[in-house]
Amino acid sequence: MAKLDKNLLNKEFQYKNITLLPNWLPDFERDEVDLTSYFTKKIKLKAPLVSAPMDTVTGAKMAILMALHGGIGVIHYNYEKIAEQIEEVEKVKRFEAGFVLNPVVLSPQNKIGDIYEINDKYGFFSVPITEDGTLNSKLKGIVTHRDVRYREDMETELEKVMTPREKLRVAHKIDTVDKNDLDFANKIIKKYNLDTLLIVDEEDKLRALVTDNDLRKNEMYPLATKNENKQLRTFIAVESRLELAKKRIGYASDAGVDGIVVDAGIAFREQIEIAKYSKQSFPNLEVILGNIGSGETVEKIMKEASNFCDGLRIGIGPGAACITQQELGTGRAQASAVWDCATAAKKLEAEYGLMPVIADGGIKVLDTATQEITKPGDISKALALGAQTVMMGSMLAGLDEAPGEKEFDYEEDRMIKKYRGMGSPEAMERRSGVRYGIDKVKVKVPEGKVIKVPYRGSGFSFLPKLIAGVRQSLQKQGFRNIEELQKFADIRSLAE
Ligand code: XMP
Repeated sequence: MAKLDKNLLNKEFQYKNITLLPNWLPDFERDEVDLTSYFTKKIKLKAPLVSAPMDTVTGAKMAILMALHGGIGVIHYNYEKIAEQIEEVEKVKRFEAGFVLNPVVLSPQNKIGDIYEINDKYGFFSVPITEDGTLNSKLKGIVTHRDVRYREDMETELEKVMTPREKLRVAHKIDTVDKNDLDFANKIIKKYNLDTLLIVDEEDKLRALVTDNDLRKNEMYPLATKNENKQLRTFIAVESRLELAKKRIGYASDAGVDGIVVDAGIAFREQIEIAKYSKQSFPNLEVILGNIGSGETVEKIMKEASNFCDGLRIGIGPGAACITQQELGTGRAQASAVWDCATAAKKLEAEYGLMPVIADGGIKVLDTATQEITKPGDISKALALGAQTVMMGSMLAGLDEAPGEKEFDYEEDRMIKKYRGMGSPEAMERRSGVRYGIDKVKVKVPEGKVIKVPYRGSGFSFLPKLIAGVRQSLQKQGFRNIEELQKFADIRSLAE
């Protein structure tokens, strides 16, 4: 572990109460700093950043943004229906794939209007056409943007506009998917200048596709967080109620989700049952439990559940939209919580194995009430204190990729977006009361509020800067990676 100022021992401290003292003579450039770390026992991220499962932060767009830049997004569950959350998972999985193994397919009798509907829902126009409109049925053709772009006759059948099978250049499953050989597919795409390559089996039934667009995206985002099939990774949040969580986990697993965050303001026993259920029924899914705030709880969970749990989420009440500490007198200063929990997990590592911890909340954004401003340095402080990754809500809620519209705020004379705590009365009108264990009671005491955050534009310019800032912070201190930071950082107390 890093060196913690003696003045901080037995004290509660926030990120703003500490600084990282550079003691080394760096002899490398900022962009050589490697920020790879463990999000869970099995999943590594090349940028240690996680977007929070909140309904003003993470849907598919945010999850895609995060994963492309080397982080990961956890999709919230505050939708009316489970199917809506699962659709977001599907969008992430479809966004950038090597082989798209479950492409959207239509039949020759579908209409041009159906193609437009698919574009509204998923953002693409290219759709393979099969005999009966399902996968694994005989390939009949393909419809692309070019075939429908100036059409207004929404009722015309696709048979009339598609490029028919005879004119299509396809690849065979045994040469591509079966060998997981994306390069082979890539060569055909380049050789014949294709946008989409369809893959068929020996009976000419459609089995998969690859797009040129996806292959180029692979090249543009070298840090992207992907699974073995080159699909972006994403997690979902699930309720800390076994019966509710069971349904969600099953559907999400079918959609290809990589893991679950069992979500609660404060971890409680039922979470362990959910973790057990998930590991036994879906062993490939990683499981994160939380939130917790003390080394003692880390110890309890690791002793009882380290076989079912792959990561811990740390933070009780530090979030920008949280009022748990003020309302219920319950919670902890986030920097102390991270230090205490990470230290406990490290101590128990020899006995129970690695248990990555996620520092969740408290990375501040400009808030008119408190005037606190985010700096990437807060992220490096969390990492120096022992967190492997950092989860953020308010920091990301002002981006285009967060759900909700930007608006002009006349009081503040600037563009803002709304950010709401999942324990705010507004959010709890849907499902999120369960997060605070008050889904079954009539009288609900809010643990969150709605705030305004500054509109920050596109995440595609914001995130690279944030990541560069974290790298720069490590470089200044002379550390080439997070492991060195966590071993040698000199964490000093700032006078109050
Ligand atoms: P930041 O500071 O990044 O925090 O905005 C994000 C984290 O805040 C937590 N969260 C809440 N905590 N009441 C709480 O006590 C709430 O209403 C609430 N909503 C979100 C959550 O852990 C999130 O990741």
